[in-house]
Amino acid sequence: MPANLRINDQIKAFPAYCRKHGCTRPYHHFAFGQSPFPLPPCVIEALRSNASQHDYLPTAGLPDLRKAIAKHYRRHFGVKCTPDQVVVSPGSKEMIAMLLAVLRGPVVVPTPSWVSYLPQAKILRKKVIVLPTRWEDGFKVTPDGLARVLASESAPQKILILNHPHNPTGLVYSRRELQALSKACRRLGVIIISDEIYALTTFEETEFTSMMSVFPEGTVLTGGLSKDRSCGGYRCGVGILPKNPAALIRDVLKVAGATYSCVAAPIQYAALEAYSGSDEVESHMRDCARLNEVVGRITASLLSNIPGVRCTFPQAGFYVFVDFNELRDDFLRLRLRTSELFVEHLLRVEHTALLAGSALLLPDDYFCARCSFVDYDGQAALAHWRASRPTTSEEEEAFVREHCPLIVEGVANLARYLEQVRAGKRPKHVA
Ligand SMILES: Cc1ncc(COP(=O)(O)O)c(C=O)c1O
Repeated sequence: MPANLRINDQIKAFPAYCRKHGCTRPYHHFAFGQSPFPLPPCVIEALRSNASQHDYLPTAGLPDLRKAIAKHYRRHFGVKCTPDQVVVSPGSKEMIAMLLAVLRGPVVVPTPSWVSYLPQAKILRKKVIVLPTRWEDGFKVTPDGLARVLASESAPQKILILNHPHNPTGLVYSRRELQALSKACRRLGVIIISDEIYALTTFEETEFTSMMSVFPEGTVLTGGLSKDRSCGGYRCGVGILPKNPAALIRDVLKVAGATYSCVAAPIQYAALEAYSGSDEVESHMRDCARLNEVVGRITASLLSNIPGVRCTFPQAGFYVFVDFNELRDDFLRLRLRTSELFVEHLLRVEHTALLAGSALLLPDDYFCARCSFVDYDGQAALAHWRASRPTTSEEEEAFVREHCPLIVEGVANLARYLEQVRAGKRPKHVA
């Protein structure tokens, strides 16, 4: 079972076990990556008023929705696409799987990585080329790194999965970095699946550049409603495919038609509202991104204050990548030999869940983890935020302490655990 699913199962099972033994200490869930925020109310209303829509829709999606999506990508990111390049899918995950099914060539998966690319490529029996990225490069794929892993690859076409903004680091490529990478891709015969599901969670929207605006002929862009509009369970994703080769859209639609027919009709009508560009939707996304920025920044600074810990300072998304390798010898002395053993032990003794580096495709003994900063009541926090926005850094910290207490406590739990580890003591369950 993948580590992310195992830790989720443990988080469900442990509290019941603990209660049975008289322990009522709360759990702190930093392992799961779901938007903490509510949906824009107009999207809920659109879903409600379209509950009676029951016809099958065109496989590529409702024509008006495809139009609205093309407009959305032009408006926000300057992507010059037309509605016939848009395909609506049940989540961007499904779109990525379909693209991997129809695109020829080996798949380059940069690490650290989102958990699902590798299993998808394996199910489809694709050749996978793992491309480790480095802390010094901001965990970005560089032209040199790409050329190095493809040096002995003879396939005429290769696929690079680029995730930007990036899960798990929260980092964003600059336009210049994307331009350099696109140049290398043209030279090396690489087509990019650019997973931009977190695009509009970018704290400063202007910092985000879509790969498709830089490399339109060689990029397939994937996105959807799950993160910036908090509609993960609606299962509505999109693919923006290049105009050529035309066979690509045809092949994707063949897979879509043969597997899911179309995305649920009421969801597509609700998505029409979510992609309308209305002030309500746009300001909702901006508010969520701003609040998320503050929670992310404070989580990262609390984490980086722990001796032996370094972490990324995210520019988007819900995640901080945390590196514990300075404490490697201490972990090994305590027979905590892998990142997975460490996070499982942390969960048992401190009720604090992280996602181990091994789930991000990093070596088992590389001591790192992903920390999701979403364990708080996003609806209540957003309402307080709108009522009185903190303006100074002291007010922001006070806001997070008051409205996201499990995050602050969870980091304190981790700090206490690591203090023991540094002292050479195996941490014990704190009741
Ligand atoms: C990097 C990344 N890509 C894609 C997805 C899938 O999103 P969707 O809900 O659109 O399938 C996720 C969800 O966690 C993600 O983190």
